[in-house]
Amino acid sequence: MSAFPGNFLWGAATAAYQVEGAYLEDGKTLSVVDESIAPEYADTSIASDHYHRFKEDIRLMKELGLTAYRFSIAWTRILPNGRGEINQSGIDFYNQLIDELLKNEIEPIVTIYHFDLPVILQNEYGGFSSRKIIPDFIEYCRVLFEQFGDRVNYWLTINEQSNMFLLPYLISFAEGSEQSLLKQKYEMNHIMTLAHASAVRLCHKLLPDAKIGPALGVSPIYPKTCDPKDVLAAEKAEELRNTFFLELYCNGQYLPSMLAYMKNHDCMPTIEEGDISLIKEGKCDFLGLNYYDSKTVEHVTELERGRELVINKSGEAGSTEKEVVEGIYKGCTNPYLEKNDWDWEIDPEGLRITLNRIYQRYQIPLLITENGLGAIDTLTEEQQVHDEYRIEYLKKHLEQIQVAITEDNVDVFGFCPWSFIDLISTTSGFRKRFEVRSDSR
Ligand code: NOJ
Repeated sequence: MSAFPGNFLWGAATAAYQVEGAYLEDGKTLSVVDESIAPEYADTSIASDHYHRFKEDIRLMKELGLTAYRFSIAWTRILPNGRGEINQSGIDFYNQLIDELLKNEIEPIVTIYHFDLPVILQNEYGGFSSRKIIPDFIEYCRVLFEQFGDRVNYWLTINEQSNMFLLPYLISFAEGSEQSLLKQKYEMNHIMTLAHASAVRLCHKLLPDAKIGPALGVSPIYPKTCDPKDVLAAEKAEELRNTFFLELYCNGQYLPSMLAYMKNHDCMPTIEEGDISLIKEGKCDFLGLNYYDSKTVEHVTELERGRELVINKSGEAGSTEKEVVEGIYKGCTNPYLEKNDWDWEIDPEGLRITLNRIYQRYQIPLLITENGLGAIDTLTEEQQVHDEYRIEYLKKHLEQIQVAITEDNVDVFGFCPWSFIDLISTTSGFRKRFEVRSDSR
């Protein structure tokens, strides 16, 4: 791996609700994900017990040779009421975590928001479906920047805005008819973009030396055939899934074709005066990318177009075969790729394609904030996992990053596979495993 720059961040990633446990301890209140994860899968009250065992976990990180750790802060630990009174125990926990990382020469990479909205704000005004969230989110960001900004150089604003948009059922924010859901999705997306941009702006003001960006879920889209209709469907799907968000984050603007789409489908969000200049001002310093798979699509026939507003309700980000997405495309299987246990198509070259599509266009530093293989692992009698397939997956993806750096001149400055430790999957509990450590507890 010698082609990697000397200061490359060799990390691993987690998120608070998926590892910490202690979900009502030391003043913490419930978040929407604590409520939505089905108890038959896993219990966020315990999760991987990281809250109590973080020192042991950091020892394992050190043993693994990590030089960075991406984790998220639980909003409900810092501000149990969503806003207002700061919970000192929450501050103390993350101070200890950050200090222990630094003591072990591990760079903290902090996600500010990873799906875990305080329930209290969801109930009060519907969370990100209301602009009321913006001042609350910014107050939360200010606390984090003031408390931890002296030691944290890398910040991630919002995790997978794209997946919360594409799979609104995943985090269960929305209800109603398909047309109203469509409208809510675009409205929520606009509000999240404003929250993201406000966080970037505040970070630049308070912490001029820090770097801040989103963690975006990305998948390159391929056409099923070279029939121009399929090629066009793939381009449109690429716009909806990737370029829409990239343009907002990197150029501070709505993609012209998406503006037309929102207008024609009666789902234009409310854009108030000052919104676009805020989004422009809040351009990010780098892009975090969560990359797992690619998608292959085919065009929608006139007959199928009638079923225009079918939205993915499966709760999984994998291929949605035969499902018509917003009248634009249908997912289909790629015969050249293998699938994981959840039907996600494994595509290391797709990572190089993605890095190039993004970097050659925006020339912004890139950090891989997630990448990994979800699998149903079997434990040996010694309670071990022999996951050569996962090692192979990670090796192949790293090779593609290496080629992207050396042959395509892409600026990738770190790799944080998902996940550092066995953790709760949002949709499948502990059944779906990702961890890069080979032992499990
Ligand atoms: C996306 C999310 O950021 C994370 O929370 C999830 O567990 C992984 N990818 C795997 O699906």
